[in-house]
Amino acid sequence: MNSLLSLPIAYLLGSIPSAIWIAKLAKGKDFDIRDYGSKNAGLTNTFRVLGWKPALPVVFMDLLKGFFGPFIAQKMCEAQVAAGGADYSAWVPLVAGLLVILGHSFTCFAGFRGGKGVLAALGVFLAISPLTVLCAFALWIILTVTTKYVSVGSIFGCGLLGALSIFGYVCPEYYFESINLGQMILAVIVAVFVIVKHKSNIKRLLNGTENGFGSKRKK
Ligand code: G3P
Repeated sequence: MNSLLSLPIAYLLGSIPSAIWIAKLAKGKDFDIRDYGSKNAGLTNTFRVLGWKPALPVVFMDLLKGFFGPFIAQKMCEAQVAAGGADYSAWVPLVAGLLVILGHSFTCFAGFRGGKGVLAALGVFLAISPLTVLCAFALWIILTVTTKYVSVGSIFGCGLLGALSIFGYVCPEYYFESINLGQMILAVIVAVFVIVKHKSNIKRLLNGTENGFGSKRKK
């Protein structure tokens, strides 16, 4: 099977609008999580609006779809090489990773209005550069807990993912994980993308109206 097929598969996988569908399952088919709270179709807003029970499956689905996008692409590349075909493994899994995140944010199953891509990105980089993304995740936890703003954790966590990936590529002798040029470029693109997706949060943080962690439902 041609490994390029993993690219549309990655986009479709990313497009599964976990928060939107789980919120509908919890509250009925007319309920749209994008009408409530921050209006984002993501884990934080699901937790904010509906509580932890619907939020939990969103965590698993977003992480898994992120992970399996590049993972499936890698396996398809290996199968293609084993069958005597061309080796695209240097770039197809990376593009698949980007497409999962784009699918998550611009989902074809829900009017191209999805989430901000934080959990999907965590899943993608668990498949691509796990130690680096775990450092970024640790910062996400620390900042979310200390500031009570998930968006602060997400913005700086993604920033750290990009910064560490650049450092790992430029100074491999001082870094704990092998980062190649493609991985570094993907990390920088994803970091910039996710931070730009947080522009409404950045505005709210600057004018003091950002929803704190655990804020109750706001229409
Ligand atoms: O991952 C999204 C989070 O960083 C912000 O979510 O709902 O507060 O915009 P939200």
